[in-house]
Amino acid sequence: MSIAVRPPYPAATRADQHADTVMTMPSASSSDAPLLDPLPLRADTPGAAQVTHLNNAGSALPPQIVVDTQIAHLRREAEIGGYEAHAEAVQRVTDVSVSVARLMRSRPDQVALVESATVAWDRALQAVVHTEPLEPGDRILIASAEYASNVLPLLQLAARTGAIVQAIPDGPDGSVDVEALTGMLDEDVRIVSITHAPSHNGVVNDVVAIGDALRFSGSAAWYLVDACQSVGQMAVDASRIGADFISATGRKFLRGPRGTGFLIASDRALTDLEPYPLDLHSATWTGGSGYSVARGARRFETWERSYAALLGMGAAIDYALDLGLDAIRERIDYLATRLRTELDEIDGVTVRDRGSVKSGIVTVTVPAPGASEMVRALRERGINTSLSTPDYAPDEFARQGIESMVRLSPHAYTTDEEIDLAITTIASLVTHPS
Ligand SMILES: Cc1ncc(COP(=O)(O)O)c(C=O)c1O
Repeated sequence: MSIAVRPPYPAATRADQHADTVMTMPSASSSDAPLLDPLPLRADTPGAAQVTHLNNAGSALPPQIVVDTQIAHLRREAEIGGYEAHAEAVQRVTDVSVSVARLMRSRPDQVALVESATVAWDRALQAVVHTEPLEPGDRILIASAEYASNVLPLLQLAARTGAIVQAIPDGPDGSVDVEALTGMLDEDVRIVSITHAPSHNGVVNDVVAIGDALRFSGSAAWYLVDACQSVGQMAVDASRIGADFISATGRKFLRGPRGTGFLIASDRALTDLEPYPLDLHSATWTGGSGYSVARGARRFETWERSYAALLGMGAAIDYALDLGLDAIRERIDYLATRLRTELDEIDGVTVRDRGSVKSGIVTVTVPAPGASEMVRALRERGINTSLSTPDYAPDEFARQGIESMVRLSPHAYTTDEEIDLAITTIASLVTHPS
């Protein structure tokens, strides 16, 4: 089978004009600028007055503009008809791709707007294996903390084709060991799939260094990056990562609506891969057995989508770009660091996060009656957190002997008082479980 060789970095793009979104590694190194003030952000966020929301890695509280944008389109659909409302908003839908491209430092024609990160990632995988079917002995390399919904279809493929799924060892800090990855590369490696910020351990993997390693080694493997948890909480620069695909969701740190996501496709992917299955949005049936695939990343989209939700995601992206991804990153890092430091001081509570570069995801184990009960008791007190269980990463949980964890994920609109409240409530629940 002929396999295309990975091209050099894409040329500078139109998005270069937007220097605010440009950042190499997602380091949260402090700048001299003051941290973002959460109060104006809270004034923009209706839910902030209702709950202490430390579940932005689940689904964030949206700013009012996101809710208004989505509802306005739903109203318009009810008033004049769904197709007619879409026709009226067609330029604004196109503008969502422009916003995604600004956010990701890619071009709008590399952006596919879809329903979720899983759909985005699956479309990428389907295109790879439809165009270049896997064969026995082919190898698929994944991060040890790869997201379970990515691992499952890879395991299915391996079972059906005789390909092998192998986890790349972690380095001493718990992130993907890039040197170990380099040592594993050979011409049998067909897919490398890396979750940028895993949902359950606080790590930020160095996806730029991994992209460099693939390129320098001349690997032709398809490089898939799951940026579901990193997009919106830090600058994610597709032009530096050099991945063939980057998938993300709208509802998490981006603060967009549920049911939204996007895929960024590289030029190599757009040239060499054919998505499967096609529909009459991603391709045209030209008669008989003829068809032509749509130009650009539209070929990874399908006809039916919630335009209200996609427009809402566009509003969320514009809101984040206005604040600045680096400013958002610094504030989240400040809050997450406070949580890690102060929760670790509570007797019986252990912070489990790893990685020398950490995300805004904070995970802790708690004493009996355990994490599930803690999440429930916190929610009863108006504090939203979430439960991490082994189904997300069974091997990693088993290696560390962990049954379940409480996950706390602040956002830039989180206040110091909310962090105080979460810490004191957890401390008191540890002493007096309710
Ligand atoms: C790392 C990671 N990847 C992918 C997903 C899936 O996102 P979605 O539910 O939008 O498909 C999640 C969801 O939690 C995630 O944490």
